[in-house]
Amino acid sequence: IIASFQPKLLTGRRVLITAGPTFEPIDPVRGITNLSSGKMGYAIAQAAREAGAVVTLVSGPTALELPYGTSRIAVQTAQQMHDAVMSALAGQKQDIFIAVAAVADWKVANASTQKLKKTGEQDMPQLQFAQNPDILANVAAMPDRPYCVGFAAESENLLQFGAAKRAKKNVPLLVGNIGHHTFGQDDNELVLFDEQGHKNLPRADKQTLATQLIAEIASRVSNTNR
Ligand code: CTP
Ligand code: CA
Repeated sequence: IIASFQPKLLTGRRVLITAGPTFEPIDPVRGITNLSSGKMGYAIAQAAREAGAVVTLVSGPTALELPYGTSRIAVQTAQQMHDAVMSALAGQKQDIFIAVAAVADWKVANASTQKLKKTGEQDMPQLQFAQNPDILANVAAMPDRPYCVGFAAESENLLQFGAAKRAKKNVPLLVGNIGHHTFGQDDNELVLFDEQGHKNLPRADKQTLATQLIAEIASRVSNTNR
């Protein structure tokens, strides 16, 4: 009974999370996306809420149910995800930002407003690309930034690439995994990179890992100013 009056790990904290893939249109009925299911981001949202946080999920297209007690802003493109994150940050001070989404690095610069038609066997559509804004890097560069956590899905050299990406993105914590082994799966295996080095969270289901990750983040945030 007494334990139920103890504050939870993230009581009173606001947590903003990006999750899922993005969808970059080619024309009104086609687009470019990726194999992210959103499961890890949604599991983290649920774990943060269970830890007492006020949680906002900015989510690309997924088939997942919204975790109980969290809010969702649904988006499609990386630019929309960027804009939704920036409005959430402008609207309310966020204590923690966790970028779990698999954001498209490029959008189609010459997307068509009408459906592309087959015109001949020699005549393929020529797509041109433009770079999307880097949401995590932009948030991490803000003067009054929240505690920022990045994710990295790599296909090789995870330890080397993870450490380098944490430094490049200028975030205190980066979570690495081998992307194509985890997309759509119910379990995962994570490596946490910080200034000190790295630490493994052994293979488990995503909800267990999410709870462990939230505990790690909470302990780091409680060591910084509230
Ligand atoms: N990210 C983001 N906005 C982007 C691209 C990535 O917020 N436009 C975030 C992801 O949500 C993730 C982190 O940045 O938390 C790392 O994403 P990743 O794709 O691994 O890194 P990139 O910097 O895009 O490098 P690359 O894809 O070339 O490995
Ligand atoms: Ca990328």
